[in-house]
This record gives sequence, C-alpha cells and structure tokens, in this order.
Amino acid sequence: MDIQSVEKVYRRYAQRYDFYFGALFEPGRRAVIEQMNCRPGERILEVGVGTGLSLPLYPRDVHVTGIDVSDEMLARARARVEGEGLHHVTALHKMNAEQMRFADDSFDKVVAMYVASVVPHPARLVDEMRRVCRPEGELYIVNHFQHSNPVVGGVERLIAPLSRLLGFRPDFSLENFLDQTGLDVVEQTPVNLFDYWTMLRARNNKNSLQGDAALFATA
Ligand SMILES: C[S@@+](CC[C@H](N)C(=O)[O-])C[C@H]1O[C@@H](n2cnc3c(N)ncnc32)[C@H](O)[C@@H]1O
Repeated sequence: MDIQSVEKVYRRYAQRYDFYFGALFEPGRRAVIEQMNCRPGERILEVGVGTGLSLPLYPRDVHVTGIDVSDEMLARARARVEGEGLHHVTALHKMNAEQMRFADDSFDKVVAMYVASVVPHPARLVDEMRRVCRPEGELYIVNHFQHSNPVVGGVERLIAPLSRLLGFRPDFSLENFLDQTGLDVVEQTPVNLFDYWTMLRARNNKNSLQGDAALFATA
C-alpha cells in the first residue's frame, strides 16, 4: 500500500462506503467513543475520519478535528457536518496522518478507527499520533488484526496480496504492530460482529520513550 493507492481505493469506495461499512463498523465506533470518556472542552483528533460516520457520536461539548487523505471521503464528511449541524466538529482537513501539520501536544485524545491497517506505515502513524497528543493524553485504535484461528488467519494471509484492491491489509498482525510502535496499551477489547475487530486504549508514553532514547544515547 502507498498513499496514492489509498487515495485511489477510497475515491472508488466513497460513494458506497456508508452502505458497505456504516452499520458493520458502527458498534466499534460507538464503543471507542464511549471508552474515550470525553470531558467538556477536550480537543479530539480523529485520523482517517472518512465520511465522518463517527462525528455525530461525540458529545457536543468537545472540539473534534478530523483528517483524511481522500478528498472524496472528506467531501462526504463535510456534507454530514453541515447537514446535521455538528458544531462540535471544528475542522476537517485533507492531511496525511503519517506527516501531520499540527504542532506537538495539540490534542488531548487521538483516535484512529479502521485506519491502522490501511496506512502505508503504521509505525509512522502511531509516532505522529503520539507527537500531536499531549503527554499523558490517550491514543485509541480500532482495527482488525490477523485472526488467531489458523483457518481464518490462513484465509487472511491468502487474500493479503489483494491489499491494494481491498484498501486494507487483512493479515495485519497485532503482535508486530505492538512491537513496532511500542504502544503502551492499557485496555484491549474485542468489538463488532464475531468480535472480529479489536479496540486498543493506550497511554501516550512519548515522554518515557524520549527518556529511554536519551538513556541509550548517554550509555
Ligand atoms: C476504512 S476507512 C475508515 C473510515 C472511518 N474512520 C470509519 O470509521 O469508517 C480508512 C480511512 O483512512 C483514510 N486514510 C488512509 N490512509 C491515510 C493517511 N495516511 N492519512 C489520513 N487518512 C488516511 C482513508 O482515506 C479512509 O477514509
């Protein structure tokens, strides 16, 4: 997957996205926003906001910013915000989540719903989520990870070469993801149909990671 393929796939999906993935992914969207336990005035960033299906689910007293690389998905999110009068959505930007234009520590909570297995470099995505989130803020990820059942996992591996066509990697391994990102996961919950997807809540451990790097540098 590269960013051009992502844009191409989601240009194709945009018109029918809500029909295919609206209801299917809805329990996970609701569960993660509930788990975020948003407090009044909090600054929330949602990366890969897509057509904005999650936006009406946030409490009205937070400030939500959404970003996505797909113009066509974003156009639908903008229409939703306007059509439903979602005043808590303060901005929607076209932006690559692996290279964000936000300053460090701009948000209290950062969430990625069904995005980690879509982006070309998941570790860069998490690094950027950490950077723009305040220290001790929280990161949330909902995603499908490769199934532990050998038959289901085998099928996922089999269709993995179709990633560019599907718009996500079906054989995305949770173990590798956690290894590569160093996410400090405090809660892991199965969500959606057949518990096929996983929700992760992680502390923003950027300060302790920087501390570790400094230790290595002086060792
Ligand atoms: C499977 S959709 C999920 C959309 C939405 N979060 C939802 O709950 O339905 C993945 C979205 O991530 C976006 N995306 C993929 N890579 C991205 C990147 N590097 N930066 C920003 N958005 C990205 C895609 O354009 C698409 O809208």
